[in-house]
Amino acid sequence: MARSMNLAVLGAQWGDEGKGKIVDLLTPNFDIVARYQGGHNAGHTVYVNGRKFVLRLIPSGMLHPGIICVIGNGVVVDPTALFGEIDELTAAGIDVTGRLVVSDKAHLILPYHRDLDLLSEARRGERKIGTTSRGIGPAYEDKIARRGVRVGDLADPAGLEKNIRDNVTARNRLVHDSVMEVEPVLATLLQQAKRLLPLVRDVSLLLNESMRDGRRVMFEGAQGTLLDIDHGTYPYVTSSNAAIGGVMGVVKAYTTRVGEGPLPTELSGEMGQRLRDSGNEYGAVTGRPRRCGWYDAVAARYGARINGLDVLALTKLDVLDGLEQIDICTAYRSGSRTLTELPSDVAQLAACEPVYESMPGWTTPTKGIRRYEDLPAAAKRYVERLEVVSGVPAAIISTGSEREDTIIRPDVVRQKLGDKLSI
Ligand code: GDP
Ligand code: IMO
Ligand code: MG
Repeated sequence: MARSMNLAVLGAQWGDEGKGKIVDLLTPNFDIVARYQGGHNAGHTVYVNGRKFVLRLIPSGMLHPGIICVIGNGVVVDPTALFGEIDELTAAGIDVTGRLVVSDKAHLILPYHRDLDLLSEARRGERKIGTTSRGIGPAYEDKIARRGVRVGDLADPAGLEKNIRDNVTARNRLVHDSVMEVEPVLATLLQQAKRLLPLVRDVSLLLNESMRDGRRVMFEGAQGTLLDIDHGTYPYVTSSNAAIGGVMGVVKAYTTRVGEGPLPTELSGEMGQRLRDSGNEYGAVTGRPRRCGWYDAVAARYGARINGLDVLALTKLDVLDGLEQIDICTAYRSGSRTLTELPSDVAQLAACEPVYESMPGWTTPTKGIRRYEDLPAAAKRYVERLEVVSGVPAAIISTGSEREDTIIRPDVVRQKLGDKLSI
């Protein structure tokens, strides 16, 4: 019974949908917030009273006192990034002590992973993925190849040394313009072990016992369904599974993607720049400009199907304020065919042209609106059309980056999520 109290919140587009804001907003309904995949390629932004926080590895529940935050086994952990983030939060007055738990089975991102990420991108040339160059892919490669270093391995310096030596040797065989020495890598790691090991727990046990005792867990996804290693626009994806089942999917009221790979509704001209500027669409991790386009309902339906989405959290509606006309992509044209489902072949997807329907925009701003009734009529029509073409109702509509800038629709929550959230 306690199990049904849990909720997963994940990206249903190409990442940066506003997961951080939604997870932070919903955290008071839960006892534990757990990240389960990705690494510090994620950048989850939370604004509280005008103060900006960007969470990369640490779950977005951390800003609420007393909440336990878990970094699960599926996450790849760069200790330097993790400590940097803890220090940043501490400096900002957030007390992390005793509230952060890291799985002993999570794999580490080590300095050679970053080198290999850069090397692999350079070698691909024009076909590069556009990664965040955080070493994510190579760390997951080592994990699957069964030569990875896990957080728990830090407790065994002798075994650690052998593994690191092999991996650094392999790195040096591949990277020709610099040689990495084993000793400094090892020395740093042993130093970091002192700080990391006290955070380590058997996370699956902790979560299971917590759920058994009636505590509620929110699972926070990173990246998005269309960046999922299996279900995304392969090979332009991240190296983990960003999709799961039974969930709230976060979508923007339009579409963005950062990095290479197809984005059928991408707007290259003035309108793309308009969305980028008003949506502040610059990567929270790498600062790169995000590619922007209209809402892609084909992609959204795909996100809904892969995850079995129960509800949507629709973010950044306010970014569309003031537009005369808003387009929604409802299908793709591929040669002479009209596709209503996402093709799995990346070249075919890249060649698809969006089929648009147009809706009138609204002139009075939605920014900061907190009640559905207060939205301009055209904005309501837009939201309701997105629900129809996406096939999933919106339980939450976000109208700004602050916690309070949010519309919650109690009827949708009650109907679709039952007692998972008390609003
Ligand atoms: P995440 O990776 O899914 O957590 O999303 P990011 O934090 O990378 O990107 C979302 C950006 O949009 C952040 O800068 C948020 O502060 C901002 N944001 C979230 N919701 C809204 C909203 O409803 N309106 C506006 N204008 N900004 C929002
Ligand atoms: P959040 O959690 C948006 C993208 C990169 C690149 C591809 C592979 O903030 O939504 P990687 O470094 O993971 O090997 O890069 O995935 N990417 C993201 N795009 N938001 C993210 O995280 C992303 N994490 C990775 O831009 O296209
Ligand atoms: Mg992000």
